[in-house]
This record gives sequence, C-alpha cells and structure tokens, in this order.
Amino acid sequence: MRTLPLLWIAFTLSAAEPSYFREIRPVFERQCQGCHQPNLRSSNLDLTNYEGLKAGGKRGPALGLIVQYLTGEMKPQMPLGLPPLPPEQIDLVRSWVAAGGQDDTPEGARETISAGAPTVYSLPPVLTALAFSPDGKMLAVSGNREILLHTLDGSAPPKRLPGLSDSILSLAFSKDGSLLVAGGGTPARFGEIQFWDLPTGTLRRSVMMTGDTVFGVSLSPDSTRVAAGCTDNTVRIVDAATGKELNKMGAHENWVLGTVFGVDGKRVVSVGRDRSAKLTDAATGAFQENVNALRGELAAVARHPSKDIVVIGGEDRVAYVYLMDRPKNMKIADDTTLIRKLERQNGVIAALAWSPDGRRIAVAGAAPEVNVYDADTGARVAACTGHSAGIYSVAFSPDGATLATGGFDGTVRLYDAATGVLKKAFVPVQLERPASELGGLR
Ligand code: HEC
Repeated sequence: MRTLPLLWIAFTLSAAEPSYFREIRPVFERQCQGCHQPNLRSSNLDLTNYEGLKAGGKRGPALGLIVQYLTGEMKPQMPLGLPPLPPEQIDLVRSWVAAGGQDDTPEGARETISAGAPTVYSLPPVLTALAFSPDGKMLAVSGNREILLHTLDGSAPPKRLPGLSDSILSLAFSKDGSLLVAGGGTPARFGEIQFWDLPTGTLRRSVMMTGDTVFGVSLSPDSTRVAAGCTDNTVRIVDAATGKELNKMGAHENWVLGTVFGVDGKRVVSVGRDRSAKLTDAATGAFQENVNALRGELAAVARHPSKDIVVIGGEDRVAYVYLMDRPKNMKIADDTTLIRKLERQNGVIAALAWSPDGRRIAVAGAAPEVNVYDADTGARVAACTGHSAGIYSVAFSPDGATLATGGFDGTVRLYDAATGVLKKAFVPVQLERPASELGGLR
C-alpha cells in the first residue's frame, strides 16, 4: 500500500504550517533579538516584530534569507556566536517561510510584543532595582521597559535608557563607571542582560537567555564577568566584554534569585528558592559547597566589601551572616560558619546591601521599612521609615552616607544611612494623565 504514507505526508504538511505568533516569534525573541532589535539593529535588521522582519536588513527583505542564515549556507551563521538552532526549529522556520511567511499576530498582542514608543506613566512604576554610580553622582533606577539615570544634584534631567525587557530587576555599574549592567526580562517570554555604555547611554549589547526573567544579576569585582540567576535553576556566567556565556552552573534545585562574586572574583555565591546558598567556582562551574543550613527560601545575597563573608535572607525574615568557606574537613553544612543572625524582620526579606566601608548591612523586604544594622555587633543602628509598601531594592552610596530605597510605591527615598533620617523622596519618572482621563474631560 503506497497511498498511506503519501496521505500521511500530505496530512502532516498541511497540519504543520507553523504560526508566526506562537512558534516563530518566540524563537526570534530568545535567540535573535539581543542583536536584531531597535537599539542595536545588527545589519540594520530588527527581528522584534513582523514588520521589521518583512522590511529586512542591509541585504533586503529577510524572509528569503533567514533560512540560509540559520543553516549556515549564508555566512556568518545565525544566531551569531551562539550554537546553531536545533534542526527542528530551523525546519519550523523553513516551513513557515515556504507557506508564505504570514503574520498571524492577534491585534491585541501587537502593542505588548513590539518595543515601540517610550513608556508613558500614569502611575509611578514599581521600583525593582537601584544602583549608585561609582562616583556617587548618579542613581540608576528601574522603570517600565527602561532604566532612568538620575543626576543626584539635579543638574540634568534624568536620562532614559529604553530596552526590550518589561522589567529590570538588577542594576550594577562597572568599577570605572563606564558600563551599566541590567538584568531582567519579560516574564514567560525571555530573560535579558543589557550592557549600557556610559556616559553616552547607548546599548552596547544585549544577551538573551532562557524563556523567563533573569534575577540577581551581579558583576565580578574586576567588572569582567556577570553572574545571573535563572528560572531554569542555573547560574550563568557571561563575559562582560563579548557577551559570551562562559559557564552554566546547575547545582540549584529551583529558581536562582541572587548572586554575588567572592572578593577575588573566582567564586560565586548564589541563593534561591531551594533555600540554599551555593558556592561555585566561576571559572570551572564546579559546585563547591552549601554555605548555609537550609531554612526558608532565599531571595537576596550581599557580600562584605573586602572579605569573603556574605549576608543572605528571604522567606524566614532573618538575615544570616555566613563565612563563604568552611574548614576543609567538613563535608556537611552545619552552622559553624554562621557568624551572626540579625533581628527578625516584619516581612520576608527581598533586598540586602552591605555598606562600602563594611560597617553596615541594610535589610529590606515586604514590610514597609528598611533596617540598618551594625555588621560587627548585629545591633540595629537605624530604621528608615515612611514607605507605604514593600521594598524591592536598597543601595548604599559609594561614600556610605546615603541609603537609597525603592519598592512598590514607586518613590525613591534617600536616607541618612547613619541615622535613618529621610533626606529626599522623589518619583523617578514623569507622570502623565492617562488618555482615558483626558478623553473624559474634553
Ligand atoms: C550576537 C548578535 C546576533 C545574534 C544573536 C543574531 N544575529 Fe543575525 N546578524 C548579526 C550581525 C552582526 C549580522 C551581520 C553579519 C554580516 O553581514 O557580517 C547579522 C545578519 C543577519 C541577517 C542578514 C541581514 C541583512 O540583510 O544583512 C539575518 C537574516 C540574520 N542576521 C538573522 C538572524 C536570526 C534569524 C537570528 C536568530 C536565530 C540572528 N540573526 C541572531 C548579529 C546577530
């Protein structure tokens, strides 16, 4: 019987006409838009939406070229510098192109999937990340689909750095202040690490990873590598100069939410939902040991500025100060490396910061307050009050005098870090009246 296989082929061909919106776009989103996006436009090609693909790049409309670039028939093979797409994904793109390469993006989804006009705020955004520049003159603040660079003396209006990620959850400046690294993504779609050039405020590079937001992105002390916590339970180490993934560590059993490098930059401590703080070798990716005894889920980690000592915190509301290393003859994590427990907070811990002089630790989270502790005695030295909701980010200024906080209420607050006295509070974005409200007034 020869008809059966033919029928079967005909059936699979018609059934296999892929959907741009459901099947092709997510592949481009995760594998291509790091380079082919409005901010970078490698080869003048924007693959963040169908229109960009249709318009094409330097060599004209991309529909006719894309499969050859994916297979390597056209050089350089895409995605550039990354492993080729698996054959079944290339087949998917091939059959979509063969079927005419139609756009089936639903009308309602167009707005949310393409990086379009600058964000207009009718409400203050939830603030998920803050970082001071090393000279203390600027504060980078996360916005919706952008980063805002505020000049602290108010001498210039904030600079807006719009990117692809809906949310930015981590911000870190390089030591010399020439690079701003941002980690985040769009939930259930992609994770991204953005590398911004300063002071020009242009995007140098964007590295896409996993199909979900990345958490707890940190820079090595020499600013050459970036660590990122992922929802596929891995920690990724990325080269800051090239964007290449150097290592993928899989010691965790659940989402990784925080990372920090050791003093010499050779090791990383990562924390996550599996309740563990894990020490790994950043160069080889080898797991070394659990730093802590397991208690609740962990959301934050920070390191002493000049010692291999970390503070971790999360679900059980207590911040624990641990030595990164344990004596060589000890295999099982007990608590002999626990240096100190800080006072229990009124809510789960979401953010921790260690002051640049090593003397203070700031603890923040679901409760609308930030407490500052003496790192040597564990005594509380200041309580920063006045927030109306939970805090997701805290940062000490480089001189240690100021503590910046940000969270659900969308207001940046600058406190005197020694006394907890509020020095300044501001909404970091320009608020516009929503169009619906204006319509009603006309
Ligand atoms: C790391 C950056 C990077 C990534 C990721 C990347 N590209 Fe490219 N792409 C480039 C650069 C750079 C060029 C120009 C190469 C050249 O001509 O030398 C290019 C060129 C192209 C071109 C030719 C455009 C033209 O008209 O010149 C196509 C098509 C293309 N890429 C598709 C893709 C697809 C599809 C993906 C994802 C599967 C992808 N690229 C991922 C950097 C990237």
